[in-house]
Amino acid sequence: MLKFPEHFIFGTATAAHQIEGDNKSNDWWHYEQTGQLPYKSGKACNHWNMYREDIDLMASLGYGAYRFSIEWARLYPQEGNRDDSAIERYNKMLKLLNSKGITPLITLHHFTLPLWFLSKGGFEREENLKHWERYVETVRDEIKGGMYIATFNEPMVYVMAGYIEGQWPPFKKSVRLASRVEANIIRAHNIAYEILKDKFKVGIVKNIPIFLSSSPQQKDLKSAKKADDIFNFNFLSGIWSGKLKAIYGNYRVPEGDADFLGVNYYTAYTARHVPNPLKLFLQVELADMSPRKTDMGWSVYPEGIYKAIEKVSRYERPIFITENGIATTDDDWRIEFIVKHLQHVHRAIKDGYDVRGYFHWSFMDNFEWDKGFAPRFGLVEIDYSTFERKPRKSAYIYGEISKTKEIKNEILERYGEA
Ligand code: GAL
Repeated sequence: MLKFPEHFIFGTATAAHQIEGDNKSNDWWHYEQTGQLPYKSGKACNHWNMYREDIDLMASLGYGAYRFSIEWARLYPQEGNRDDSAIERYNKMLKLLNSKGITPLITLHHFTLPLWFLSKGGFEREENLKHWERYVETVRDEIKGGMYIATFNEPMVYVMAGYIEGQWPPFKKSVRLASRVEANIIRAHNIAYEILKDKFKVGIVKNIPIFLSSSPQQKDLKSAKKADDIFNFNFLSGIWSGKLKAIYGNYRVPEGDADFLGVNYYTAYTARHVPNPLKLFLQVELADMSPRKTDMGWSVYPEGIYKAIEKVSRYERPIFITENGIATTDDDWRIEFIVKHLQHVHRAIKDGYDVRGYFHWSFMDNFEWDKGFAPRFGLVEIDYSTFERKPRKSAYIYGEISKTKEIKNEILERYGEA
């Protein structure tokens, strides 16, 4: 049997745009309508209207924590125009969560922006941070019953997808802009930390992919380290040091802090050297770590979660696994995925790493950004034609783990790693 510490929290994670539906004032919605994004989020899971049912379900399944995001564009659909009914709705969600003993973790930026903010240049321009400041102050003054706040979700994914690969809004391909956005996000995090720190525990959520060298050759080994630095460490170190080594160039930012670090972990990548300065001499690809691939095309590599914990432990802050999950309709495989990753989390705790909780991605199937509704990440299945919620077997097994804070031998034997 594997026993987790009493204070350890087990929860699930979602994000506003992926579940709420009708997020009409943000940039993703806009580009979904223009066709620059391949899929439309539409009503998503209709969670904006069904949040009571969803939170009741979470409670009945036995989950002890819930990570979700506030949609900035709902609070401020137009510049300077605050919608108090949206604040009220989020406060109702928080009240309900607290009444059920579910610990909330709120994300402030989960990829989407109010369209008006993006139209002003978004995080490309430092002077725009005054608008972010206003949003964060509103959260501090009006949002009641939160405990943990993550300022940003996966800032480097946002920077890469929106400013290097040009696949997500605002569809740009510029290392210079990407670097500027990276610096401004650190500034924005540090601004938010100062505003919120007396009322909440304030952290940041970072996707920590594992970069492996594509060969034993020196140049490839160096490339793997370089990818790790560019994507993982330079950003995080910049929060505390005040010096950001960005993708391109160095930036001075005010020194800041974080009360905790959220780790999102999914899979591993290989890095190799390529003789192309435009690619920063680096080629990064999905690693082939398991014969079977998820519906995202990702390998399953459970020991990577231990490595991710080990990596961020250098910052000496409490760690939450804020996302970890699998896109599949084979629910037995999902159970296996959860159990195996939790075995490695447990090992990390035993080895002395300060891991405080695990949030499974996701509570329910949802809108997977530029992949649409096809990938099924949910513990709970969504029938998108009726919005019926159907907990999968994994939802119950994970609920047992959450309630008892242990994984029983029969589950370990059937689904775990030897
Ligand atoms: C993360 C992201 C989530 C979710 C997940 C699965 O990068 O934060 O919003 O989409 O990946 O792909």
